[in-house]
Amino acid sequence: MKNSYDLVVIGGGPGGYEAAIRAAQLGLSTACIEKRIHKGEPALGGTCLNVGCIPSKALLDSSHRYEATRHELGEHGITTGDVGIDVSKMLERKDSIVKGLTAGVAGLLKGNGVDWLQGTGTLLDGKSAEKQVKFTAHDGTETTITAKYVILAAGSVPIEIPVAKTDGEFIVDSTGALEFSEAPKRLGVIGAGVIGLELGSVWRRLGSEVVVYEAMPEFLAVADKDIAKEAGKLLKKQGLDIRVDTKVTGAEVVGGEVVVTTDVKGETKTETFDKLIVCVGRRAYSEGLLADGCGIELTERGLVAVDDQCKTNLDGVYAIGDLVRGPMLAHKAMEEGMMAVERIHGEKAQVNYDTIISVIYTHPEIAWVGLTEEQAKARGHEVKTGSFNLSANGRALAQGEGVGVIKVVADAKTDRLLGLHMVGVGAGDIVHQGMIALEFVSSVEDLQLMTFAHPTVSEAVHEAVLSADGRAIHAIQRKKR
Ligand code: FAD
Ligand code: NAI
Repeated sequence: MKNSYDLVVIGGGPGGYEAAIRAAQLGLSTACIEKRIHKGEPALGGTCLNVGCIPSKALLDSSHRYEATRHELGEHGITTGDVGIDVSKMLERKDSIVKGLTAGVAGLLKGNGVDWLQGTGTLLDGKSAEKQVKFTAHDGTETTITAKYVILAAGSVPIEIPVAKTDGEFIVDSTGALEFSEAPKRLGVIGAGVIGLELGSVWRRLGSEVVVYEAMPEFLAVADKDIAKEAGKLLKKQGLDIRVDTKVTGAEVVGGEVVVTTDVKGETKTETFDKLIVCVGRRAYSEGLLADGCGIELTERGLVAVDDQCKTNLDGVYAIGDLVRGPMLAHKAMEEGMMAVERIHGEKAQVNYDTIISVIYTHPEIAWVGLTEEQAKARGHEVKTGSFNLSANGRALAQGEGVGVIKVVADAKTDRLLGLHMVGVGAGDIVHQGMIALEFVSSVEDLQLMTFAHPTVSEAVHEAVLSADGRAIHAIQRKKR
């Protein structure tokens, strides 16, 4: 460790570690301070690698294989013996993937010459040209480091609600829900957001009866209405009991069970569960990050205030990822980290916030990019839409995945593509086609004129853009052109 660096990054999640690596590539002497201890070991990778994106996807994959083996192989003419699950083995597999990836990040930092400082970073002074950061090692040793630039990348933590306080055993947050030693018989989930749907799906597939409470009157209000409707239908059919317009008003552990009280349009109800997951959103995490008088401005919601280039109110201090405005997504944090570093290096990097993809990794996946039909109308576009059901897509049917829909949203006057939305097999990958098209300001016609390989699920994108002008071939078109 040195006492002075060009750049100090506080936080070694996807935003922070990518920023640190990019800075080192550009020749800046760089330190990355990360305080996380995961399963007894100091760990890089932040929420995403340790308790977020990666472990949740590992369990989603294991639980999907279990469900598919039990319920889908038969129709392929494949017979199996008794199919069982060993949840502890699934958890071990998840943990070993996490370990491998976080060790990989440590190797990348080392290989690029970034100093990983294991402990807490606190911005003492961000106003002077020489910034001061206090580094407190895990053994309590304090050192003051100076830096020309600082990137704050401290991430986020789950929001806690007073009506359902987590106890780490019966009432847990998303981190606890990645560690159940067996599938709870009855599982309650507060919040039908991304975590509720993903982790609710994991445990349902592994045998839990899952009830998901959602306070909002609409299911998945952030998604395009047609996609949310179709996704809701599919998830309910799978057995997720999603209750919209249902506010949880209390949760109490009584005799080893969780008694949940809800308010459903003025009516009070109670239900009992073995475990309850609280996943009602996340909040920026700045405890221990900012010393009094360091000069950083926060927003009313406790986020670090930044402009479009992630600059804070202080020259030379940037903030990125879940700590700042915008969606709390790993890829958004990563791109912001790269942008901040390249700006520091004098380049004109910019994140296009209009093309950040959302994916919910249920089965099938739900994904979108760009404007929903409702948003496009609200922005004054004269809208045309096209859609295509995967029930008419040969490849999806051949895979036993002929459910879901792709929808495109476009401007009727200019023909410009505005959004692509999908619930269906591989949606999280297919949606990237929409992102690339939006980045290149494609028209619907541009996409209509392209040749999509047959048989692929991507052909449904082609059919959806054709249908925007009444030209889809594998669907009866009301308007013909
Ligand atoms: P973080 O990943 O939170 O990293 C910040 C790091 O900073 C932490 O490790 C913390 O220990 C450290 N830190 C904080 N303060 C200090 C300090 N003062 N000193 C030193 N270190 C400090 N996003 C997706 O895009 N795709 C997904 O599939 C996905 N799945 C998710 C699943 C779950 C269950 C959860 C909870 C989240 C998921 N997310 C997903 C969100 C994603 O994890 C976050 O958006 C992403 O991790 C944000 O990156 P970040 O670098 O801003 O912060
Ligand atoms: P979320 O914001 O996605 O959903 C929270 C839901 O809880 C909302 O629908 C909200 O209306 C509901 N809610 C709030 N209070 C409630 C109450 N008292 N009773 C009932 N419902 C209530 O938040 P979530 O699922 O906790 O995820 C946090 C963030 O983590 C996400 O916003 C996302 O940014 C990130 N994430 C991303 C993933 C991905 O990209 N696949 C996966 C998991 C998390």
